[in-house]
Amino acid sequence: MKILVINGANLNMLGKREPSIYGSKTSQDLYNLVADFCGKNEIKVEFFCSNNEGDIVTKLQFNNADGIVLNAGAFTHYSYAIADAIKCNNTPVVEVHISDVNQRESFRQNSVIKPNCIATICGKGFDGYLEAINILLNK
Ligand code: DQA
Repeated sequence: MKILVINGANLNMLGKREPSIYGSKTSQDLYNLVADFCGKNEIKVEFFCSNNEGDIVTKLQFNNADGIVLNAGAFTHYSYAIADAIKCNNTPVVEVHISDVNQRESFRQNSVIKPNCIATICGKGFDGYLEAINILLNK
């Protein structure tokens, strides 16, 4: 089993960025948490982080993962390109948000990628990524 974790815009700034919303842990801490969980469960994991919409589109198009965990950041709310890219192949994708987007500004309550994902997890912090991997494992 190979899992690809994709983090989109501004998620490289975890730890510095709005810690009252996203917490004080960094992107490296997130990677360590996910890598540790995957190591214990004999899952191969790749972590891809980009601020560029097109790079995320290309990664969704071309990868050899069995399942994808996608936190597209703000692209979630308007990127039909990323939504379309999810449908370029049959790899299941779980949408993740660290914060509870449903309790925030109205623009965050709409996800254009949600219809193309098998599940959405939000408001569970970094643990949401592990929950997403469990969903993909049990698929
Ligand atoms: C986010 C929520 C988005 O609305 C925001 O633009 C992000 C992070 C989250 O993980 O809570 O960049 O996806």
